[in-house]
Amino acid sequence: MTPPVSTSSVQKRARSPLPRRLLVTGGAGFIGSAFVRLCHRQGRVSGDADSGHCIVLDAMTYAGDRDRLTTVLDASRPTQLVVGDICDRALVDHLLRKHEIEAIVHFAAESHVDRSISGPAPFIQTNVVGTFTLLDAFRQHWDACGQPAHYRFLHVSTDEVYGSLAPDAPATSEHSPYAPNSPYAASKAGSDHLVRAYSRTYGLPTLITHCANNYGPYQYPEKLIPLMFINMLLGRSLPIYGDGQQRREWIHVDDHCDALLALLELGEPGESYNIGTTDEMTNLALVEVLCDLMDRQGIPLPIAPCRQLIQFVRDRPGHDRRYSLNCTKLYHELGWHPKISLETGLKDTLTWYLTHRSWWEKLLSGDYQTYYQQQYGSRTSAP
Ligand SMILES: NC(=O)c1ccc[n+]([C@@H]2O[C@H](COP(=O)([O-])OP(=O)(O)OC[C@H]3O[C@@H](n4cnc5c(N)ncnc54)[C@H](O)[C@@H]3O)[C@@H](O)[C@H]2O)c1
Repeated sequence: MTPPVSTSSVQKRARSPLPRRLLVTGGAGFIGSAFVRLCHRQGRVSGDADSGHCIVLDAMTYAGDRDRLTTVLDASRPTQLVVGDICDRALVDHLLRKHEIEAIVHFAAESHVDRSISGPAPFIQTNVVGTFTLLDAFRQHWDACGQPAHYRFLHVSTDEVYGSLAPDAPATSEHSPYAPNSPYAASKAGSDHLVRAYSRTYGLPTLITHCANNYGPYQYPEKLIPLMFINMLLGRSLPIYGDGQQRREWIHVDDHCDALLALLELGEPGESYNIGTTDEMTNLALVEVLCDLMDRQGIPLPIAPCRQLIQFVRDRPGHDRRYSLNCTKLYHELGWHPKISLETGLKDTLTWYLTHRSWWEKLLSGDYQTYYQQQYGSRTSAP
């Protein structure tokens, strides 16, 4: 597959007016909710007559949680949560019209690689069919509104579409070929190509972003960093796939969302942008850093030092060895740079998990427990 790229420069174009009436899909998820909270903190949606609003459309799957939005969802604030499916065309049409939406910021997805291996069907439905539904509805809406130049369809994709890099290979740029290896990555790649097609065929003003691994507050416990912090607090083993030498690039979720806001304003329609930090580490080295951070808290732990909890488990099938993003386009053409160092971001994230125990404890039953038993039960002890 070839990637959605072209060669024009953002520096050549003027700033567009920022779209202010946003439909944020998946806005009750980890990254989508951070984006909505950031919009509020920055006063981009403030409730004034001439200010914008965020309509969150979220199906509230196991990964969606209203509590991530409690600080922005009260009667006086201009953010509303609509529980619904992005595949529901009539609902999407209705929301676009009723709220005079200027931009869709599209986070909604099935997002966990392990779940895509054990059950790929929902990934195709939400990530491919859902993205198609949104694109087609937004095209009609944009046409009906007279094709305003500042309208945007911002599609939040992933570095995983580029596939695995050799240890010494140069970082992937927006021109690198697509080579997805998991059903998750393939479904995101498929959706990227639909977005590209709607830009090229219909002139729809789209943006595609490829972001590195995110971490930060409110991340669901199945993902690596919260999984490790929570298991340390519970005295459970820290499962590491294979030899732990898979390399990943990490970005704080607030930096990711800040870059998305910059791109809504400055990104060239039809283009794609990598969003990363150059903070690349092996999974094992990262987990060791997390263990040392936890040990230094001086709090009572069931088992310490935490490194003794590390347990190597059977590797994930098709596990990519390395992702690394070349972000020259974002850094040089837009002048955007990440602001949160990995050291500070990880410390702050640990503090957040220590001070929000009730948030993650409520997630450790039901679906999560079933998932955890299936994923690690035969290989290590579960929380
Ligand atoms: N987490 C990462 O490290 C990372 C990195 C790069 C890109 N991304 C992309 O960012 C986006 C958000 O990721 P996340 O980590 O916040 O995911 P998440 O799993 O935490 O949240 C996804 C949200 O989408 C909702 N959703 C799922 N199916 C839906 C449907 N059919 N209709 C409406 N809502 C639906 C869920 O309820 C949930 O609130 C995804 O598109 C993902 O591919 C994530």
